[in-house]
Amino acid sequence: MRPVAMSTPLPSALTVSTPALVVDLDIFEANVAALDALLRGTGKTVRPHVKTHRTPELARRQLGGSVTGLTSSTVGEAEAMVDAGFDDLLVANEVVDPAKIARLVALADRASITVAADDPEPVAALSRAATAAGVTVGVLIDVDILLHRCGVGSARDAIALAGQIERLPGLRLRGIMGYEGRLRLTDDDRSGKIAGAYAALAETAAALRDAGFPVDVVSAAGTSTLREALADPTITEIQAGVYALMEPELLIMDLPFRCAAVLRGTVISRHPGRIVLDVGRRVVGMEYGPPVPVGFAVQAISIGDEHATMMMEDPLPPLGSQLDLTPGQVRTTFNLHDHVWVSRGDSIVDRWPITARGSSQ
Ligand SMILES: Cc1ncc(COP(=O)(O)O)c(C=O)c1O
Repeated sequence: MRPVAMSTPLPSALTVSTPALVVDLDIFEANVAALDALLRGTGKTVRPHVKTHRTPELARRQLGGSVTGLTSSTVGEAEAMVDAGFDDLLVANEVVDPAKIARLVALADRASITVAADDPEPVAALSRAATAAGVTVGVLIDVDILLHRCGVGSARDAIALAGQIERLPGLRLRGIMGYEGRLRLTDDDRSGKIAGAYAALAETAAALRDAGFPVDVVSAAGTSTLREALADPTITEIQAGVYALMEPELLIMDLPFRCAAVLRGTVISRHPGRIVLDVGRRVVGMEYGPPVPVGFAVQAISIGDEHATMMMEDPLPPLGSQLDLTPGQVRTTFNLHDHVWVSRGDSIVDRWPITARGSSQ
């Protein structure tokens, strides 16, 4: 993937109006460097998933080292990234409706585009559209390795689909992908599930190769299964996304990443044993629990639409002071904001648009 020019930092120090999403760029860059160090010498590549932040300026800072391109979950995210200058995108999801297929093919005229597929019909439609436009679209056969969501259910189906992709013009079979989902340390039979998922990938890759099909890419895994994916001999490419920003629930795993994003709020009300911050569910994703206070202790936290009410012991922070909370779910959180503020040390140094915010189509 060719390097893309960085934006110029804003000239003066900035203060933020709250509630605001702030990324600590030092931590973000350290996470990116830590992933690169883990991959070095493994022969594997990484394709950062931009669904995490939908922010081109952050994606730019994930390039280099073992990064071959970006992963997106929607055509809209891919469009935003190509518009921002990125030239290699994997849409790691099924695209079946004609309008989206047309957008995908239009993108393939401007960048290297690969898409997941698990059914002959959209593959045939993609071939017709790509041929009419005179472009080639890469295809990864999506394999259902654990989630029972998308993906072909057997090596036999993978071989049938591979035959069709190879026969049709405008398409290039690049290999397979499979996503095992987030597997927490506390999940029942975690290692058995991962082993089963990776065995399904290996079996499918071997069956395709035996049948004479190319399998240059075996793309899988996210942050929670990074160590297992690195140790797996079949996987060639890792689709991790959250690693660069991290989430509190993943901190107990043996991973060299720290939380880089916070919600900055202002104390707007103060009472004995209680303060209220202007951070509510309109600005923070709550699927993995409430946001976590940074550098201060609370006895309890409750989140409303616009308020975080926190029970605290004295001394309480003054009215008007700013405090940070780490979001439990960064993907939803980023999708709730137009901009992300950027800090280095104690200073705010920039503000970047979350360009693909809302690009869920
Ligand atoms: C298909 C796919 N690949 C990779 C990932 C990345 O996982 P993570 O963000 O936990 O690293 C996701 C996340 O949801 C995904 O849906």
